[in-house]
Amino acid sequence: MRHLLNTISLVVLLLCTAQIEAVAERLHVIPQPAYVDLEAEGHYLVTEKTRIVVNDEAWNPAEIFAADMQKHFGSKRLMKMGKYGKGIKIRTDSCVPAEGYEMTVSEEGVLIIGGSEAGIFYGLQTLRQIIVTCNGEVPYGFIADEPNFEYRGVHFDVSRHFFGVEDVKRYIDILVAHKVNRLHWHLTDDQGWRIEIKRYPELTDKGSMRKETLVGHGLNPEKWDGTPYGGYYTQEQVREIVDYAAKRYMTIIPEIEMPGHAQAALHALPWLGCEEQIVDVWTTWGVTPEVMCAGKETTYEFLENVLLEVIDLFPSELIHIGGDECPKDRWKECEHCQAKIKAEGLEGEEALQGYLVARIERFLNDHGRKMIGWDEILDGGVTPTATVMSWRGIGGGIYAARRGNDVVMTPMSLCYFNFYQTESREGEGLHIGGHIPFEKVYSWDPYEGLEGTEREHIIGAQCNMWSEYIKDMKTVEVMLLPRLAAMAEVQWATNNRNEETIRERMETMRKFYEACGWNYAPYYFEGRK
Ligand code: ACM
Ligand code: ZN
Repeated sequence: MRHLLNTISLVVLLLCTAQIEAVAERLHVIPQPAYVDLEAEGHYLVTEKTRIVVNDEAWNPAEIFAADMQKHFGSKRLMKMGKYGKGIKIRTDSCVPAEGYEMTVSEEGVLIIGGSEAGIFYGLQTLRQIIVTCNGEVPYGFIADEPNFEYRGVHFDVSRHFFGVEDVKRYIDILVAHKVNRLHWHLTDDQGWRIEIKRYPELTDKGSMRKETLVGHGLNPEKWDGTPYGGYYTQEQVREIVDYAAKRYMTIIPEIEMPGHAQAALHALPWLGCEEQIVDVWTTWGVTPEVMCAGKETTYEFLENVLLEVIDLFPSELIHIGGDECPKDRWKECEHCQAKIKAEGLEGEEALQGYLVARIERFLNDHGRKMIGWDEILDGGVTPTATVMSWRGIGGGIYAARRGNDVVMTPMSLCYFNFYQTESREGEGLHIGGHIPFEKVYSWDPYEGLEGTEREHIIGAQCNMWSEYIKDMKTVEVMLLPRLAAMAEVQWATNNRNEETIRERMETMRKFYEACGWNYAPYYFEGRK
């Protein structure tokens, strides 16, 4: 008899488990939450009349959620908020992981407990996806969630093409809905200097404008459009964007390119070059030999003065100094560079770049910040404290992680979202090249090649939006979505990805994109890759 009862209980348990799993499968949230336990029956209905019940530390995420919901419901007023009552209750508890949250849904309402305000914010992002895609019907149950990576980044090149304040805010809105928490803002390059620096007004007066832009592909430069092109952010606008991001728990990491990718700066301030050569803001894509002189002390003075203003504008601990693709042709011929190599006992031009990078890192450290740079910073001998952004494949990142440097993985073959999304390229327009379909991003393992404690140095993963061939926000969004959803699961739900359910969940995500009014590429949904 006892045996029979046990068997019955087991069968009931199995049936219940199967049912719970079936219901859990119906919860389509991206990135996939770490733990989902849904009850088989029932849901709590959220409408524009639902109250948000807040304690003091949670007003900011509540207000942002209420504004998103107002747009969703198309209502005249924000949802009501107060300290007491029933509805969506939010609060923090230090027992929950810092960026994590727990969400309980019952007939009493929705309770979200975040490990921090950011945790509440991410819980509300999960809730928002459910409300928007399930007509406000939030299934009873329990979710516990936290991210895998502390650094969940997306990059934005605003130099090759410029995107104004409202575009950047929209970009941030899309990122945070995917639980991304770092925006790597590529503010300076050969084709335009985009950030006001009070000490050197020429940088934006002259360096933010190019005479014209290449038409067609950079591998075959034949034709230019004859139309001046430019734009930049005032410091006031930068502060506005930094504040907008911070309210959404996103840190903006500014990138000031040095010593290469600096032709726009050289146009504005010719004394930055080895021979004070007069150059244009570049009108072509690629890698130019016109780089900053690493021999003259005036270059270091310039970089430090620029960084002082950047530090004042951006609270981010990490400051990106570029460091990539710096041809050494000019340095080989330059008396100042050669004198510096001799005076510092350096072994040639690569070591001179290492000297510049190490000196800038010391400067940033002295001002309470940390340096991050593209993986070329390894070539000149990297310090133990720099964070390395591995883009020329994963080798640089693996090498750096083994040495104990922190690493953000962003290998070009998987993370360059300016690459084509389909093999045939049909209907995609002109892009730089490459081929990164959704599936390729989704199956990426950022820890590949590393074992045990080495993996702890991989602090995050990032995708990059280079804008040579991306001229408007619609194209930005089409290049970003839906691949960002795949990247979000890599970053947040690294070990909870599910190749079997992702396609079905993405159909729901597509509904979410449509409800939000975001443009996305159709290829993945059409089965094209
Ligand atoms: C890079 O793509 N030059 C970092
Ligand atoms: Zn020089």
